[in-house]
Amino acid sequence: MEKNVPKKILITGGAGFIGSHVVRRFVAKYSNYKICNLDALTYAGNLENLKDIEQEPNYTFVKGDITEQDFVNNLFAQNLFDGVIHLAAESHVDRSITDPLSFVKTNVLGTVNLLNASLELAKSNPNFLFYHISTDEVYGSLGKDGFFTEKTAYNPNSPYSASKASSDHFVRAYGETYGLPYIISNCSNNYGPNQFPEKLIPLFINNIIQNKPLPVYGDGNYTRDWLYVKDHARAIDLIFHKGQKRETYNVGGFNEWKNIELTKLLCRLMDKKLDREEGTSEKLITFVKDRPGHDLRYAIDASKINQELGWEPSVTFEEGLKKTIYWYFDNQEWLNHVTSGDYLEYYKKQYQA
Ligand code: NAD
Ligand code: TYD
Repeated sequence: MEKNVPKKILITGGAGFIGSHVVRRFVAKYSNYKICNLDALTYAGNLENLKDIEQEPNYTFVKGDITEQDFVNNLFAQNLFDGVIHLAAESHVDRSITDPLSFVKTNVLGTVNLLNASLELAKSNPNFLFYHISTDEVYGSLGKDGFFTEKTAYNPNSPYSASKASSDHFVRAYGETYGLPYIISNCSNNYGPNQFPEKLIPLFINNIIQNKPLPVYGDGNYTRDWLYVKDHARAIDLIFHKGQKRETYNVGGFNEWKNIELTKLLCRLMDKKLDREEGTSEKLITFVKDRPGHDLRYAIDASKINQELGWEPSVTFEEGLKKTIYWYFDNQEWLNHVTSGDYLEYYKKQYQA
């Protein structure tokens, strides 16, 4: 065990998709740490994601909202965390288009509340670290060529990415202005178990299971760089422990897919899994009206984290997609549970066309 490593760690948003994988990894790997998971349990947060570790002695869960300043300050004062890994956020672009203010509240105000509380702890703890988890969407859209590097200028196009860009700027500003030790990482699109079925891959898996249309936005020629969520959790672990303070790391899958090609691959894998004749699921593809402000292409140049920290993705896309499909099949109860309630209302409104 290294000297001076933080022992009491706050992970925000740990009941969500990526956060649950980060919490599980840290709880399993660092039995000498105390891991506190702070989550408001919005529609996207679900404690079923952490059922297997909830009894572990190094794990606690606190239900609470990062937008509530007094609550955040009290939690920090009571627990004297050595580090924060901040994932709590509103994370879905389509929701940000219909309700931008919720994104400002959670992603900007919530982050600044955490920064203020962190400053207090950092005053008496030189090893304190605020690690902010962000997205490649802050860089805006690429054309057909090129990659996002850590030096690419921010140019967010959606209310979601604007709110994440703003939170990144606040984190950096707290480093410059008040000397808060921080790291930021910007990652490409994640997929895998526990992802709420409103994002492309789990939505389409769920719809294929239920024989519902697959709403492909526009012409489907939009490109994303996909990374298996456990590879992201491994990158977060590495960056938290070995990353340089005041630095940014881009994390990506070296794995670009046009939405339409990805959808067809998913359809083929699902036909096999469901024992359906090849081509059956593809018939569900329905081109629908485009997302406003839709970014054409994201692609990460992850050579900095590769060269400095030795990280690279370990799960191939086909392998990761198969694992993901199997997980959703084995967890139909989870799917039924998370898709009851307001999700259905939202979904109906969004895709009436
Ligand atoms: P998610 O929507 O699955 O989970 C977000 C979690 O935050 C939920 O558990 C939710 O309950 C919690 N939360 C929301 N508002 C809160 C509040 N006010 N107070 C406390 N908790 C609150 O999101 P995700 O996909 O797991 O993303 C996690 C982080 O990673 C986000 O910051 C996101 O911007 C970033 N990110 C996501 C991706 C991706 O592909 N999903 C890629 C790069 C970066
Ligand atoms: P999404 O999973 O929402 O992630 P992000 O917008 O953060 O990249 O969308 C991934 C891509 O898939 C994006 O180009 C939008 C597209 N998309 C569809 O075509 N249909 C859908 O129903 C969804 C949810 C997304």
